[in-house]
Amino acid sequence: MGKTVLKHLAIIMDGNGRWAKKRGLKRTKGHERGAETIREVTKCCAKHPTVETTTFYAFSTENWKRPKLEVEFLMKMLDKYLKDELITYQEHDIRFQAIGDLTAFSKALQKRIKETEELTKNNTSLTQILALNYGGRAEITHAVNTLIGEGKAHVTEEDISSALQTPYSDIDLLIRTSGEERVSNFLLWQLSYAELYFTATLWPDFTSKELREIITNFEQRNRRFGGI
Ligand code: IPE
Ligand code: IPE
Ligand code: MG
Repeated sequence: MGKTVLKHLAIIMDGNGRWAKKRGLKRTKGHERGAETIREVTKCCAKHPTVETTTFYAFSTENWKRPKLEVEFLMKMLDKYLKDELITYQEHDIRFQAIGDLTAFSKALQKRIKETEELTKNNTSLTQILALNYGGRAEITHAVNTLIGEGKAHVTEEDISSALQTPYSDIDLLIRTSGEERVSNFLLWQLSYAELYFTATLWPDFTSKELREIITNFEQRNRRFGGI
């Protein structure tokens, strides 16, 4: 049996708040540390021989329910992250892309996102996708409406797949940190045959060493896709 190959990795980064609380810190400190973990994990994926895309869940369509101050902090942090990260993207040949409904963000943040996408669009060692104001149901609904708008009366799975915002490819492995074992409206369509891995590690404590161990575990799995 050949080794199971990891091309598209998806990560639900969870546990920033609990990480901070355990230390008597504000939740926002957990988000700051979490941003450093994204950097480390992204660099590790860029070096990996088979990983082509890593999609990180950074802000869900449900996260607007959080206190206004926390939401504002996350928006500011995202802007700063993208500004600081440009050099890493260029040095490590990483392409940046965003998925989700960006129209809810400030004009300045939308501009930063578009510029970062544009400046990194020719990089090829890894595509890092950040899911921002993203919801799996919203993405599927939007895709179906796009197809209706094109005049389609009947749609195929291929039509939906190609109308989705996520540069189309199925997820091979989904990792969720912090011990929660749910999908929370992430990539519902693309996860249909993904392998799932749940770790109790809180996102700010997650390391490239643990990632490599999880990838080794994944590579030993036997994916049958309904066959035998
Ligand atoms: C994940 O950590 C980051 C975001 C959802 C933005 P949380 O903020 O959900 O951390 P916990 O789950 O409260 O510990
Ligand atoms: C999922 O985490 C969303 C992100 C990681 C961005 P949440 O912490 O928001 O999910 P629930 O509410 O625990 O399911
Ligand atoms: Mg959480």
